[in-house]
Parts: sequence; structure tokens; C-alpha cells
Amino acid sequence: MSRFNQKIVVNLGDRSYPVYVGEQLVRDLAQHIPSDVGKVAIVTQESVGILPELEIPSAVVYMGSGEHAKSLDTIAMLCSRFASMGMNRRDMVVAIGGGVVSDTAGFAAASFHRGIRYGTVATTLLSQVDAAIGGKTGVNLPEGKNLVGAFWQPSFVICDISSLDSLPQREYLCGLGEMAKYAFLGAEGLEKLPLVEQVAMCVNIKAQFVEDDEREGDKRALLNYGHTLAHAIEALGFEDSRLDFRHGEAVAIGLIFAAKLAHRMGRISSQRVLDHYRVVESYGLPSRLPVKVEPDLVIGVMSKDKKSFGTLTFVLDSPSGVEVVRDIDVDLVREVLVEFMDGLSG
Ligand SMILES: NC(=O)c1ccc[n+]([C@@H]2O[C@H](COP(=O)([O-])OP(=O)(O)OC[C@H]3O[C@@H](n4cnc5c(N)ncnc54)[C@H](O)[C@@H]3O)[C@@H](O)[C@H]2O)c1
Repeated sequence: MSRFNQKIVVNLGDRSYPVYVGEQLVRDLAQHIPSDVGKVAIVTQESVGILPELEIPSAVVYMGSGEHAKSLDTIAMLCSRFASMGMNRRDMVVAIGGGVVSDTAGFAAASFHRGIRYGTVATTLLSQVDAAIGGKTGVNLPEGKNLVGAFWQPSFVICDISSLDSLPQREYLCGLGEMAKYAFLGAEGLEKLPLVEQVAMCVNIKAQFVEDDEREGDKRALLNYGHTLAHAIEALGFEDSRLDFRHGEAVAIGLIFAAKLAHRMGRISSQRVLDHYRVVESYGLPSRLPVKVEPDLVIGVMSKDKKSFGTLTFVLDSPSGVEVVRDIDVDLVREVLVEFMDGLSG
């Protein structure tokens, strides 16, 4: 039986690029490096453990792990290394890793010599279905996440499912959380497919969003389905160890909450809410908070936008798909939150 292997093109005119989804693809990395590239800087992390051989001159540059490594200090370190390698505008950066590596190496490539080419080998499930595609590169500041960056599209993306074999289980689960949202963004029946086809389906959808809205106007915001509550859970988790969720796990809880809110607003049926539970639970993801949290604390974090005081914005489902819904009454959100936490200990 032939292996599943799909090439999906993100069509952006002269910034178009292929995304390859399949198994055992990393070993073919060399054939995706354009023939005019003279040198390659491979940016990765020790824990990724994937280093394909290249015939052209190359050097491996290791960066740190975690959000703190996604920093301007790392950009300075990477660009210095590129300079000491004598890299010029014809050369290329190859990011091998998850979203932290592709965001950081992509931004270093966008900045070095005012922009050189980069390609990504995405080695986490989250980066394969989301972070590696779309050209959003950047780093964090002490003041906040992803505050400095650039839209800089890669030359290619490789999503090799085999590279996920070594991924820690919690990281895998985190990717499933981002994957679950696609089931409500047009990938009906996603969870029933083999993993490699699920990744390809998500990449296809993400590619369409990027093509329609390269610089993140309204349409790409729909990719944040489930993220309004998720961001609040993650923020509160810094202070409250009972809310120790990874991003994807928080998104899963956020999807269920968004479905309940949409149902309460008469936008979707109770069957559709059950569909959300089915998808989230089939991935082994959490569908509820573990403990009661003060609703106003959650609302406070969700309503960071001072201009919309008294109202909230959510991405919500409807019979014609998910939409950005603004000006949702805070009292209604509070009521649905209270119901959502009913029966939990506090
Ligand atoms: N640019 C975008 O559009 C976009 C979208 C979503 C998320 N992001 C960003 O992505 C980041 C999160 O990415 P992530 O979830 O991939 O986490 P990550 O990059 O931190 O990777 C998680 C851990 O897994 C390790 N790892 C990676 N591949 C491995 C492998 N194959 N085997 C063993 N270990 C491996 C990494 O070294 C790291 O320790 C966040 O910074 C987020 O802001 C960006």
C-alpha cells in the first residue's frame, strides 16, 4: 500500500509555497532547498533530535526551549551566528522544531539582511496544523507574547508525521487541542481519519484562511475559535496551580464553552453542542474546568479591551459556520460560566 503523501500549496502569488504532509519526509529535506542557496543555517533545539544531512555547506545553531527562549536575545544570537557563518541574501535558514523554533527562526530570517529565505520542518503536532503555516513569525517581550514580529512566508513547510513519534504525550495532546477546532472550521468528521490525513485536512483549511487573509484581518481571527476562554484559563493558571493546562488543553475547554454560549444565544442546536463534546472527548482532551473559578475573575481577563467594557467578543458557531461575534452581554457570559462550572468544587 502506498504511503499517504500530500503537497498543499499556499497560494500567495510570488510568496506561494508548498506544504508537504506525509511520513518519512525529513530525509528528503535536501531536495527542497533551492539550487541557488549557498549555505544553510539549521535552527533547532537539543530536545528535537532531528538533524537531516545536507550536501551543501550548513551549520546547526541551537536555541533554548520554552517561551522565554522566543526572545529578542535569541534573535540577536541567531543573526550573529548567521553573520559569522558569512551568510548572505542568497542563503537560507531551516527551522526544525515546534512553534517556538519556527516563530523565532522565521523572524530571524525576516530580519537578517532585511529578509532571507527560510523553510520549516514542523516537528510538533501544533506546529504542523497551525504555527508553521501562514508566515506569522515573531518573539515575546517581557511585556507580552508575540509583541515583536513580521509576516514572512516560508519557502516550504514539511509536516512529517513520523517526527511526532518522539514528541512527549502532553505536547501531542496540546496539538490535538488546536486540531479539534478545525472540526468546526470545515473539517467535519476530522477525528475519524488517520492522523496523517487529519494533519493534511487541517493544513488545507489553514492554507485557505491564510490565502484569504494573509495579514490577519477578520477571517484569520476565526482560527481563534475556542481561544477567548482558553487565553483566560492560561493567564489565570500562572497564579492558580489548579488550572495547570497547556494551550491546546485550554482551547478544548474553550471550544466547549463557546458551544454552550452559542447554544444559549440560540445560534446552534443542543445536538451541535454534543458534537463539540464528542470531538473534544474523542481526542482525550478535557471538556471542563477542574475546579470552580470566580466568574468575574475570568471575565476580567477576557475583557482586556477597555473599549468594549460591559461586552465581550467571542468566535461562535452558527448554522453557516463560525463567526466573530462582538458586543456579547457580560451578564449572559457570566450566567453561562456559572452553569459551566455547576457541580464543581471551588
Ligand atoms: N506563528 C503562528 O501562527 C503560531 C500559531 C500557533 C502557535 N504559535 C506559537 O507556537 C509556540 C508553541 O509551539 P509548540 O506547541 O510547537 O511548542 P514548542 O515549540 O515549545 O515545542 C514543545 C516542546 O517539544 C519539543 N519538541 C519539538 N519537536 C519534538 C519532537 N519531534 N520530539 C521531541 N520533542 C520535540 C521542543 O523542543 C519543546 O521542548 C508558541 O510560542 C505559540 O505562540 C505560533
